[in-house]
Amino acid sequence: MALISEELNKAFNAQIKEELDSGYLYLGMSIWLKEHNFENLANWYWIQAKEEFEHAEKFWKYIIETGGTVELLELKKPKSDWKSVEEILKAGLAHEQYITNKITELWKLAEKLKELQPRSLLQWFINEQIEEEANATALIEIHVAYKNDMLFDRHVHREDD
Ligand SMILES: [Fe+2]
Ligand SMILES: [Fe+2]
Repeated sequence: MALISEELNKAFNAQIKEELDSGYLYLGMSIWLKEHNFENLANWYWIQAKEEFEHAEKFWKYIIETGGTVELLELKKPKSDWKSVEEILKAGLAHEQYITNKITELWKLAEKLKELQPRSLLQWFINEQIEEEANATALIEIHVAYKNDMLFDRHVHREDD
């Protein structure tokens, strides 16, 4: 018998899709930004996209380790008709808030099922989401302070971990 319950397994498969959707969304943002010559911000979202794939990996590895079944679901076509840098930054924060809710729901589900094993995994994601929301908020605030998209882009700096 698998250590992971069927219900949590299903919810984790859904979260794999959410993380990959996140990566896909950020990839689209990165492409739009590169097309519009915002090189640093494009790089920022590209690194973000890759991070989301690593988040998905944490879930599928957990499912395999606990004897569950990984199912890759169909991904959502991400929005691509962005109008401005500001719109992207705000959508980035809104998306992270959406993901935070998803993670909170997973924690509550595990608790309801009295399944303790995924606690440290989910705690990692709870902490990660605090950081993700803080980063997205900081980008919005710095952008507002610069008042100019290109100057703002020159300020943005991020390296692969
Ligand atoms: Fe994520
Ligand atoms: Fe994220």
